[in-house]
Amino acid sequence: MRPPRTATTRWRSNLSLSPVVALERMAEPVFIDDVAQLRTLAPVTSAPIRHHVFVCTGKSCSARDSAEVKDAFERELKARGILFGREVKGKNPKGSVVLTECASVGFCAIGAAVMIYPDGVWYAQVRAPDVAEIIEEHLLNGRVVERLALLKLPAEGSREESGADADWEA
Ligand code: FES
Repeated sequence: MRPPRTATTRWRSNLSLSPVVALERMAEPVFIDDVAQLRTLAPVTSAPIRHHVFVCTGKSCSARDSAEVKDAFERELKARGILFGREVKGKNPKGSVVLTECASVGFCAIGAAVMIYPDGVWYAQVRAPDVAEIIEEHLLNGRVVERLALLKLPAEGSREESGADADWEA
């Protein structure tokens, strides 16, 4: 847990420190208290975000062409004008979908894994040709693509029933 910050601990002069320690201090990130400044620094906070899509690019999912899945999401979301991001990259600063690559989530034997939040739906065995359907059905119309949806969080059942001890890459 982060220790509470006070006016005296927030900033100290580097003049009395050795050059190495002073450099280390300079590299320390400054904690920003001002919410308005934070919002300016993170434009995503003013975008009408509705979904966050994670595509696993771990080793096993990559072997199942998850890069193509991610590219398909990017292409299709851009085409619909709903991919959040910088306009200079062809994205929409007011887009409603954030697309992120992530590391292994435990679907290694059944990738490519795609997770959609805040709905908590984890899709398995996703291929690039499935992406348009996921966008159209799930993201735009709120209907889970049941043929690919393997897990919905919070999960039903106990740890023992779900076989949660299985090996995976993380
Ligand atoms: S590599 Fe994607 S779930 Fe493990």
